[in-house]
Amino acid sequence: ADALKIGIAGLGTVGASLVRVLQTRADMLAVACGRPIVATAVSARDRSRDRGIDVSGAQWFDDAVEMARHADIELFVELMGGSGDPAYSSVKAALSRGLHVVTANKALLAKSGVELAVLAEEKGVILNFEAAVAGGIPVIKALRESLTGNTVSRVYGIMNGTCNYILTRMEKEKLSFETCLKEAQRLGYAEADPAFDIEGNDTAHKLSILTTLAFGTQIAADDIYLEGITNISLEDIEAAADLGYRIKLLGVAQKTASGIEQRVHPTMVPQDSVIAQVDGVTNAVAIESDILGELLMVGPGAGGNATASAVLGDIADIAKSRPGAQLVPSLGRPARQLDVYKRGE
Ligand code: NDP
Ligand code: HSE
Repeated sequence: ADALKIGIAGLGTVGASLVRVLQTRADMLAVACGRPIVATAVSARDRSRDRGIDVSGAQWFDDAVEMARHADIELFVELMGGSGDPAYSSVKAALSRGLHVVTANKALLAKSGVELAVLAEEKGVILNFEAAVAGGIPVIKALRESLTGNTVSRVYGIMNGTCNYILTRMEKEKLSFETCLKEAQRLGYAEADPAFDIEGNDTAHKLSILTTLAFGTQIAADDIYLEGITNISLEDIEAAADLGYRIKLLGVAQKTASGIEQRVHPTMVPQDSVIAQVDGVTNAVAIESDILGELLMVGPGAGGNATASAVLGDIADIAKSRPGAQLVPSLGRPARQLDVYKRGE
């Protein structure tokens, strides 16, 4: 069968891991998807950088938008990050040209997700973004597919690996906040600007995507009550432990009498609860719905391989889909009027 030709924009932590698994698992993927998957185009800022990967067989583009417009590909994979350009323009150009798109970029989706999803629907192509929320945990699939027919009442969890890694190492090894953050950056968990992690914005971006999928509302990342972990000290962690609690940065979206409440803040959770046992870069997402009950998913939330695994699953879905017969999954064309609100207002 014809190979699925893909273009990968962004060859950093996630992009380089993706290239590696595409190459080392090529035969396995070809069998699983019924056709080979080949990266025929790649793009990043610095062509001379040693990335420990071989992309010599792919056409190099200095400009991701050019790649989206002109590369000989069916699928554009956006792994650059950021809610502005070139991520926004390149994804828009790719969808406008009728290419499928896979992205791990929650900042982009939190800002422009519905616009891009609507464009994908209009063009009859797929926009997949499993890696954008909770790394390797298949929470988008759960909300879009497995829970169809359920009414969701609450979605919450640990959605930022960097913060959970910092809080865990501070507590268990009495390390300083700064040391733990540096280590999270070295391991490839943190955002290019780690303020997005530690100030809670990254969790808010992810929560806003889950809210939209769970409740059919507009994306409202700016309407989230937001508090990060920058003010959490070792003394706070120890005081919580004395009382039988651990501190976790949680994102919560739930139905209330006033609408959908969304909040992100450090939370004291009882030491014997499942969520308190979630350590390190691991994430956990709980979804409460009426037919199924409570679903709790726990797994790797950040890092090159965990994220590349989710991106690969999205690519494989597209490789397996039949033109004209696939379900075109919207990010959440709003099903009703915006009814989210910010706590305290
Ligand atoms: P990195 O910073 O490691 O890599 C970013 C890549 O994009 C680099 O190759 C960089 O080029 C390229 N790039 C950045 N800006 C531009 C630009 N203006 N034009 C062209 N190329 C550009 O990021 P990550 O791999 O960690 O993250 C990528 C995406 O995945 C982000 O959206 C992030 O939020 C998301 N994500 C990351 C996870 C993780 O654990 N790291 C987990 C889940 C999602 P160059 O190398 O030349 O500088
Ligand atoms: N910086 C993010 C985190 C990457 O630490 O969770 C995964 O989205």
